Amino acid sequence: MDLYEHQAKELFARHGVPIPGGAVATTPEEAGAIAAELAMPVVVKAQVKVGGRGKAGGIKVAPGPATAEAEAHAILGMDIKGHIAHSVLVEPATVLLEEYYAAFLVDRANGAFLAMASAQGGMDIEEVAATSPEALVRFPIDPLTGVDQRVARLIADQAGLPEEIRAEIADVLVRLWRVMVEEDAVLVEVNPLARTADGRVIALDGKVTLDENASFRHPAAEPEPGHGDDLESRAKAKGLNYVKLDGEVGVIGNGAGLVMSTLDVVAQAGARPANFLDIGGGASAQIMADGLGIILSDPDVKSVLVNVFGGITACDAVADGIVAALDSLGERGHGHPIVVRLDGNNAEAGRLILSRAAHPSVRQVPTMDGAAEEAARLARSAA
Ligand SMILES: Nc1ncnc2c1ncn2[C@@H]1O[C@H](COP(=O)(O)OP(=O)(O)OP(=O)(O)O)[C@@H](O)[C@H]1O
Ligand SMILES: [Mg+2]
Repeated sequence: MDLYEHQAKELFARHGVPIPGGAVATTPEEAGAIAAELAMPVVVKAQVKVGGRGKAGGIKVAPGPATAEAEAHAILGMDIKGHIAHSVLVEPATVLLEEYYAAFLVDRANGAFLAMASAQGGMDIEEVAATSPEALVRFPIDPLTGVDQRVARLIADQAGLPEEIRAEIADVLVRLWRVMVEEDAVLVEVNPLARTADGRVIALDGKVTLDENASFRHPAAEPEPGHGDDLESRAKAKGLNYVKLDGEVGVIGNGAGLVMSTLDVVAQAGARPANFLDIGGGASAQIMADGLGIILSDPDVKSVLVNVFGGITACDAVADGIVAALDSLGERGHGHPIVVRLDGNNAEAGRLILSRAAHPSVRQVPTMDGAAEEAARLARSAA
């Protein structure tokens, strides 16, 4: 999960990494009021989860509260590379001498962490990396020892950061490392890490990606409602694994492997999955109802493919689940054709239950390929 800059900076502050301060506004008036509380000038920054905001016009310096309000007015609603700015961060403008780059990330290929640092930070770091790669040092971090003062010094040395402030930089690197480990991040990036006129080192930008598998350890870091895919958060709240894709066939299956194969057969049948949902092993009536409810709420869905291989949960229980789900969905269960393929444990009994229920939306196909073709055909004819 990517964090907004202001959320990343909150984590920085919690671990003692110096940040400019300031606050988030969702209206121009609010931005003006925040600016009025701060030392002038201020910087008004679009909060979008994409880099290059400065170059896109999403970052503006304002000499006073009225200008801050006007800049916020211009930035709020701005589309930056497909991301709409719904809020702005208003913070004091720092007088800076130099801009550096520092990052920690998970280096999967080497089964370790990687530190990256450069004396040439700022908005053109991508260009530095491309044209003078030696200016961006890569420093493997042993996960068992991590980053202490000694390692932090080595990183700063290798990156050629100025001697006079290496101690300050090393201190910030150690704190950023704590953000990485204690907040379960997979990426912590600061660009720029700025050197101020009075010899301080301060994080002017922050990009943090948290490991979602560890989110249960950080309940406070849950994304605010209304952000991200709404259906995804609804599914998550119900403990379901729902992923949005960009096709037209809704896919429900039990077990990750079967769901992945189902996506393949849908593609093979010439259609594209609109989403997929793994209802897991215990496909109870409630889980099926929740799952179908979510899949049918996706406006892109034209047909649904339910592909279940009965194992510990037998097909008759799954069929009961589908019938109960459609009952509880009422009208909403009638919108789109639902192709069901049941196989495995008690498949015959399950199919009989569905035949008897004779729900008008449901049609059964005994094989996976056949069911995918039927779902693809129905999606096409609905388009
Ligand atoms: N509080 C601040 N005080 C002074 N200058 C700032 C401040 N915040 C940002 N800047 C300036 O604006 C530039 C761009 O800001 P920032 O790095 O936050 O956004 P960005 O363009 O999205 O960067 P990236 O592409 O790295 O995501 C910085 O390199 C810095 O020069
Ligand atoms: Mg930046």
